[in-house]
Amino acid sequence: GEDHRLLRIASAIRVIPDFPKPGIMFQDITTLLLDPKAFRDTIDMFVERYRDKEITVVAGIEARGFIFGPPIALAIGAKFVPMRKPKKLPGEVISEEYSLEYGTDRMEMHVGAVQPGDRVLVIDDLIATGGTLSAAIRLLERVGAEVVECACVIELPELKGRERLGERPLFVLVKAA
Ligand code: PRP
Repeated sequence: GEDHRLLRIASAIRVIPDFPKPGIMFQDITTLLLDPKAFRDTIDMFVERYRDKEITVVAGIEARGFIFGPPIALAIGAKFVPMRKPKKLPGEVISEEYSLEYGTDRMEMHVGAVQPGDRVLVIDDLIATGGTLSAAIRLLERVGAEVVECACVIELPELKGRERLGERPLFVLVKAA
């Protein structure tokens, strides 16, 4: 059942202490990808949640949202739209800045990829401070799309990133310390 699948998913995520710097417990999903049952369960659980929600676009956030987003998009019959780091997308883009621990970063999306009225599911591997997902939400709402939900494999609840998403719902499979 559900708990069995969630346990398998949680167990397949490797935690690497002090990466990329001291004090950070890095949640490494590459080991989840090495376990085909756990990877399949991860995709299935998202597909089961979203298949009847009339999602028209799955927006995946670089880099690991590009791993989980496309299989979900294909399974539910939605478009896949990549939300990328600066200067990667070749066409005309709109962009949003967001703050990091030191300085700022920018997220870009192709103009025309998402249309007014699109019903969007935003996918990433992990929410920490919520800065990345909130930038994605701003971009999508600027073009008139409705963000139906954000979904991540892992949440770090102590960082309260969920609070930065305002009213938009966040669905996660695993909560990590
Ligand atoms: C990580 C993670 C999320 C983001 C979450 O990506 O994959 O995208 O951080 O952090 P936040 O909630 O505090 O914004 P990272 O910045 O490591 O970029 P990468 O996926 O390109 O390696």
